[in-house]
Amino acid sequence: METTANIYNDISEILFTKEQIKAAVEKLGKQITEDYKGLEPVAICILKGASIFFADLIREIDLPLEVEHMAISSYGSATKTSGEVRLLKDLDKSIYGRDVIIIEDIVDTGMTLNYLKKILVGRGANSIKIIALLDKPSRRKVNLEVEYSCFETPDAFVVGYGLDYAEKYRNLPDIGVLKPEIYND
Ligand code: IMP
Ligand code: MG
Repeated sequence: METTANIYNDISEILFTKEQIKAAVEKLGKQITEDYKGLEPVAICILKGASIFFADLIREIDLPLEVEHMAISSYGSATKTSGEVRLLKDLDKSIYGRDVIIIEDIVDTGMTLNYLKKILVGRGANSIKIIALLDKPSRRKVNLEVEYSCFETPDAFVVGYGLDYAEKYRNLPDIGVLKPEIYND
């Protein structure tokens, strides 16, 4: 590891370095630019976890897209979701008839996005696709399609590049596995 910053002390293993993330984000941006050619999608950033990924990704997309933010909170413990979602901040504008891209940090059980997607479908979007920085397919509990993702991750609790544990580690430039003793105390 090239840094001795303290936040790295709680990480057992780096899964994706900032260089690997950068390359993956550039590749995904090109793909979205291609797939949405001629369209003006609405990109929704799911706060707070997706904020860093979102900021990097939308600058790799060469389309006249619009930006929206949503804040949601799923009930449950710090490392597990209950799937019931509370809307903390809603969209500023209607998405009726629009091509919507939901941009999220990680899809784990899929329950959070499954719930959110249903809400957005009910508002009459023309299309809704999901982009997740990380996908943990082995943990899926609902049948949710994740159209785009940068990396598949193993069944471990990961932090960094926006992802947190108890609001910390979001500023870690890489993505790593949090030592279990940090949350199993
Ligand atoms: P899901 O509803 O189980 O798919 O959970 C999704 C949400 O749980 C994500 O938006 C994250 O906020 C959180 N989450 C799930 N796994 C992790 C992880 O490994 N690290 C950090 N947050 C996670
Ligand atoms: Mg989240």
